[in-house]
Amino acid sequence: MKFVPHLKDVIPYAAGTPIEVVMKQYGLQKVVKLASNEAPLPPFPEVMDVITEKFNDLNRYPDAECRDLKAALADRHGAAPEEVIVGNGSCELILWLSLILLEPGTEAVFSDPAFLMYEAVTRARGATAVKVPLNGFANDLDALAQAVTKNTRLLFLTNPHNPTGAYLPYPQIEAFAEGLPGDCVLVLDEAYNEYVEEEDSQAGLDIRRRLENVVVLRTFSKIYGLCGLRVGYGFCDPRVREAVDKVRQPFNVNMLAQAAALKALSLEERLQERRALNREGRRQLYDGLKALGLEYVPTQSNFMLVNVEGLPVPADEVPEELMKRGVIVRPGRPLACPGCIRVSVGTPAENSFLLEKLSELK
Ligand SMILES: Cc1ncc(COP(=O)(O)O)c(C=O)c1O
Repeated sequence: MKFVPHLKDVIPYAAGTPIEVVMKQYGLQKVVKLASNEAPLPPFPEVMDVITEKFNDLNRYPDAECRDLKAALADRHGAAPEEVIVGNGSCELILWLSLILLEPGTEAVFSDPAFLMYEAVTRARGATAVKVPLNGFANDLDALAQAVTKNTRLLFLTNPHNPTGAYLPYPQIEAFAEGLPGDCVLVLDEAYNEYVEEEDSQAGLDIRRRLENVVVLRTFSKIYGLCGLRVGYGFCDPRVREAVDKVRQPFNVNMLAQAAALKALSLEERLQERRALNREGRRQLYDGLKALGLEYVPTQSNFMLVNVEGLPVPADEVPEELMKRGVIVRPGRPLACPGCIRVSVGTPAENSFLLEKLSELK
């Protein structure tokens, strides 16, 4: 077999370990997963109802164009349906953008650390990954701008950032976007947008409306609690959507996912409850971590970076020690944050469980 040569440079995405695997491995009855920035609560009951109703139609293909969902998303966010792309998670949208924009000789620029998919898709295309260190825990817009060359076709910017949770005000992002060459597509990845508590949180969409080389990505995986069904969406120039339509498989978003996302979108006001739960959970974790003498990065998201170097256990062993005790967190080292763990905000009981297990390591 002769695989394409640049595959040798790709590091496969390492996902958080599933709960059942940890239960079996350590013989545990109770395991709490705070590793993948998932919603701690199941989807709304109304969403589950539409999913079960759709079971009867599963002998049919889903709508290949996601017409209803695109129309609802366009309506909600002030776009035209032709400007909406819907994918099997926003991961799929990131992949498509790499397919239509990258090839050997081109470059993609993003922060280091950043969401691991950016590097994987860039390398899989044989393009060059240009990684720009963060300024503290935040994206360094000046350094990112300086890293752009005539060969840069993609620039991924996550706000709030993953894995740090740091947030940049949109006026700064707007000035940055305006300075980019037209051939460089700015992908504003807003996977955690709905958790942001800042006034300007929706301004990324305004930037997208003004600048044709800006794509905004969002997802139903986080606050909507639908990551198991896989639906992400994006707003872009219609030419980007046309290009994407040439590379995507026709039925990429399954029927249950389309119906669930559409229903979830109609329950927008209920997101307040989830946002409040996350806000209180962040506060609970901040207070608990402070009491344990552990430093953390203040977050605008549903996860946070915690510095565990203060514990007697070596930082790299903390995830394993927590796992043995029934808590799955994300090790910092593979995320280029050695000395840290990344923890998702859970329910109050889950957050307490994490804090209790961390205190056992003291
Ligand atoms: C920054 C960022 N972008 C995109 C995604 C992908 O989300 P999904 O494919 O579930 O929509 C994630 C998932 O964790 C993420 O952290």
